[in-house]
Amino acid sequence: MPSGPATDRSTKTLTEPAMHISEIDTPALVVDLDVLEANIYRAQAYFDRHGIRFRPHMKTHKCPQIGRIQVTAGAVGLTCAKLGEAEVMADAGFEDLMVAYPILGESKLARLVRLVDRVRFTSVFDSPEVAEGLSRAAESAGVRIRCLVEVDTGMKRCGVAPGPQLYDLCRRVADSPGLEFAGLMTYQGWIAGTEAEKEAAWRSEDSRVAETVGHLNDLGLACEVVSGGSSPSLYSSHFAPSITENRCGTYIFNDRNMAGAEAASWDDCALRIAVTVVSDAVPDQIVVDGGSKTFTSDSTAAWPGFGRFVEDPSLLLHKMNEEHGYVRLGSESPRHRIGDRLHVIPNHVCVTVNMQDELWVHRGGEVVDCWPVAARGKLR
Ligand SMILES: Cc1ncc(COP(=O)(O)O)c(C=O)c1O
Repeated sequence: MPSGPATDRSTKTLTEPAMHISEIDTPALVVDLDVLEANIYRAQAYFDRHGIRFRPHMKTHKCPQIGRIQVTAGAVGLTCAKLGEAEVMADAGFEDLMVAYPILGESKLARLVRLVDRVRFTSVFDSPEVAEGLSRAAESAGVRIRCLVEVDTGMKRCGVAPGPQLYDLCRRVADSPGLEFAGLMTYQGWIAGTEAEKEAAWRSEDSRVAETVGHLNDLGLACEVVSGGSSPSLYSSHFAPSITENRCGTYIFNDRNMAGAEAASWDDCALRIAVTVVSDAVPDQIVVDGGSKTFTSDSTAAWPGFGRFVEDPSLLLHKMNEEHGYVRLGSESPRHRIGDRLHVIPNHVCVTVNMQDELWVHRGGEVVDCWPVAARGKLR
């Protein structure tokens, strides 16, 4: 039986028959463990084959049990978006964590130095202000913080463009007490398109990064790590050999965005949202028991609506209130009765997971475990 948090089914005992996903109360997240493991091992085998270290981003699953499968498969550690996520993973026994986000402010710095004491920790940032805070905190706590400087190669979010300002920041990190300059981080979330387009984008990315690393080398600033990657272009990452470590996250579950980018098939989607039809009172419409607090309002460029209904792809979830999903029936829709259960592949799985306390894990429909989303809501 599930070892996770208590639910209304948790009174079952080991002698009772196995639980089927159709018995889980809705709305709920159900994860096909066979698909999840296939996604994890396929990506790891690809990175192993190409000699790229893999540090998957845990913001997609926020779940120690899934992180453990990734590390067992061969990941060198985990990437986190926020310090709070890293604290949850450190408590769960993970020993090598990177927070790919600038850490600012006294209260976070106090938490950061405590974490540095417990795990092999890497911090990422793109400004002298953050470097100064980290250095001060590290010095007064008597610890050393491994640092990557974020370089922007096309995302235009965080990251300093290659050039003198970037080299100055790297030099400053290397010279700052308590800090250790370990290399660079980039994020290729903008690479998409056909296989040929992805290959071309990765190749030009490689020449930009290699030139920057070469210049830093000439300045005596060796880059032990160059971290990059993003799921839509995961299987083209080898066209940029100057990127030594990859941080893909979404690849473990996949979602409607990934399918829309033709980077995953529907069968590669390991997570579904189980919902129940609660009303059919309005003609040509059903209402399901999940709304914006279940699906989130993330859209996807490829298709209208907030998810794909596995049982009937002609259904369109076109509008939501917090707990109501308005579903327009397709012209070929079979009858969907009140009480029927449907499964939806979300547009953006990372935000969907952050909305729920647990993941119901199954093989072939039989529930094998229930894992807490232990780092959900850890936004600080
Ligand atoms: C800094 C950073 N690294 C890695 C990732 C993982 O990207 P993906 O989910 O496309 O694999 C993200 C995603 O938002 C990110 O922001």
